[in-house]
Amino acid sequence: MKLVQHPAEMTELATLWRDEGRTIALVPTMGSFHAGHLALMRQARQLSDQVVVSLFVNPIQFGPGEDLATYPCDLQKDMHLAASVGVDVLYAPLAADMYPPGFQTTIRVAELGKGLCGASRPGHFDGVCTVVMKLFQQASPHLAIFGEKDFQQLAVIRRMARDLDLPVAIIAHPTVREKSGLAMSSRNSYLQEEEIEQALCLYRAICFAREMVKASTVPLVAAEVCSKIIKNIQSTPGCDVEYVEIVDADSLKSCETVNKNSRLIMAVRVNRKVRLIDNAGLVEL
Ligand code: PAJ
Repeated sequence: MKLVQHPAEMTELATLWRDEGRTIALVPTMGSFHAGHLALMRQARQLSDQVVVSLFVNPIQFGPGEDLATYPCDLQKDMHLAASVGVDVLYAPLAADMYPPGFQTTIRVAELGKGLCGASRPGHFDGVCTVVMKLFQQASPHLAIFGEKDFQQLAVIRRMARDLDLPVAIIAHPTVREKSGLAMSSRNSYLQEEEIEQALCLYRAICFAREMVKASTVPLVAAEVCSKIIKNIQSTPGCDVEYVEIVDADSLKSCETVNKNSRLIMAVRVNRKVRLIDNAGLVEL
């Protein structure tokens, strides 16, 4: 596996591959790899001739007071893990090369990026779209893989690709979970042992909602399901709900009743410090 740091080198390599008729898959990441990231990389390996994984802790998607300075990183370990699943290039550009002095362009997906996580993290999805667009330009992928774990991010990127006619297929990968049900996340490393137990309130909420849907013979009122979930989460010591919503999986607009295209989507803070997100479809297809 090759480590590439300079954007011009990445572009040169991608051009070479394309000239040879080889297909390129990109998996954008911020590093600190866990089994979720590795699953995306394995899928990329299956779908294309060349696999590029970008590792860039993107400063412009972090707000003031967020965890940019403390975001976990271990390049040596990540290189080893990426190589173990057959990645061809780990592309880890420097912030100074991604955002040289005078940089001032932003990509904004106006509506989809506003609510849910966008409400408490203003500008977050602008930062995500801008960096992903740059990565697409640099690595020239035929396809790019994103996790359903970050469901709003996936919807925003899909919209951006459609709106800007990007010649990149956006592929979704299901959320990879710990045995306990906790969705894997680089931020889980911030959790102490007893906080991991508290964090399970998210997965319990998913199971609870699915059971409710299964047991009901009529379409459930989404707001009623959400208020039950909020009550359950709030009763878990140390857990504070940022949002719990049932939305249409494509528009991310609130659903009146739970249907096949509904998605339960949640953000919770554990002990005020660690912000966790999770989501799931509620109706078995
Ligand atoms: P990061 O949080 O490192 O996630 C990289 C990719 O891994 C994203 O597509 C994310 O949805 C996926 N992922 C994370 N945890 C997962 C899990 N448990 N199961 C399946 N997929 C999972 O998301 C970002 O980085 C950044 O915002 C990025 C897109 C790289 C732009 O900076």
